[in-house]
Amino acid sequence: MPANKKLLVLPGDGIGPEVMGQVGRMVEWFGDRRALKFDLEEELVGGAAIDVHGVPVTDKTVDTATNADAVLLGAVGGAKWDSLPFEQKPERGLLRLRKDLGLYANLRPAICFDALVDASSLKPEVVSGLDIMILRELTGGVYFGSPRGIETLPDGTRRGVNTQVYTTPEIHRVARVGFELARKRGNKVCSVEKANVMESGVLWREEVQKLHDAEYQDVELSHMYADNCAMQLVRNPKQFDVIVTDNLFGDMLSDEAAMLTGSLGMLPSASLGDPDETGRRKALYEPVHGSAPDIAGQGIANPIACLLSFAMMLRYSLDLGGEADLVEGAVRNVLSGGKRTGDIAKPGEATVSTGEMGTAVLDELERLGA
Ligand code: IPM
Ligand code: MG
Repeated sequence: MPANKKLLVLPGDGIGPEVMGQVGRMVEWFGDRRALKFDLEEELVGGAAIDVHGVPVTDKTVDTATNADAVLLGAVGGAKWDSLPFEQKPERGLLRLRKDLGLYANLRPAICFDALVDASSLKPEVVSGLDIMILRELTGGVYFGSPRGIETLPDGTRRGVNTQVYTTPEIHRVARVGFELARKRGNKVCSVEKANVMESGVLWREEVQKLHDAEYQDVELSHMYADNCAMQLVRNPKQFDVIVTDNLFGDMLSDEAAMLTGSLGMLPSASLGDPDETGRRKALYEPVHGSAPDIAGQGIANPIACLLSFAMMLRYSLDLGGEADLVEGAVRNVLSGGKRTGDIAKPGEATVSTGEMGTAVLDELERLGA
């Protein structure tokens, strides 16, 4: 009997606990029907942790996360904690987990399900069949660079500073993930920066090219400025396969790519660290959407991004690609069958609750996987 997989669940704030509840049901399904057993631990993160522990993530939770096979996170943040000092905000909990676990490779797939081509604000022909992967560097760049801060100058005016900084190892390790991903997909990488303005962008471009020429000549590599990429994503998104970019550009471009698929409520993500001696990578899985305070507590949030994040965990942390396909197939069929939460419904269309969507996906899983 293989050991149970250790899973740390961090529901977080807003709609986080609601959508994570549906993942809990899926975990049970896999235990009952596929003999896939998990040891689950649950902890607070974000505002929920601030309310109880006074910090957005405790040392103990970071420790548990470090030792888990995978971490599943819902969402963090909300108006209640907006006025806290910067260092104490809910978001810092998420940023600390990313940094302390060394999760430098953030995979944000943007896939447009056929049943949802009409939910996108772009024309159906532009997005139908879309399947791109945004690979965002997640532990460097301007998010973490120093010096940083706000200072008051002698004349009483103030000065805010952040630093965009990348080293060659930081660029190589994320680019390597990009090339490896591309080999299993459409074999194309587009590297994105602002080499026309920023030295860190010049370095990024040169180093990605160097790694390509040394080890990945079989993969097609192109380079693009970030502003052009933002434009190309809405003009002709299907030209891309894997986009590899830095932390800040990746934050923005992944939100943009998300909307190509119709709703932020559909998009999962994986954040991965370096493989250890057994090949296991530290990993955190989370929906790309935030805590959505406007609809929190009403039971109407779309659980699909969170369920698909669980599927990514099966694929990337547990090497269970077949089981991940099963979850993704169940979601696809449920959407084709017309089930819609509010975020993906057309005006006037009937909608289902978070729990009803979860039930529909589980029923379909049962039908496909029995
Ligand atoms: C994301 C979010 C976070 C980020 C916030 C919540 C800190 O926007 O994961 O994209 O900026 O990285
Ligand atoms: Mg973001």
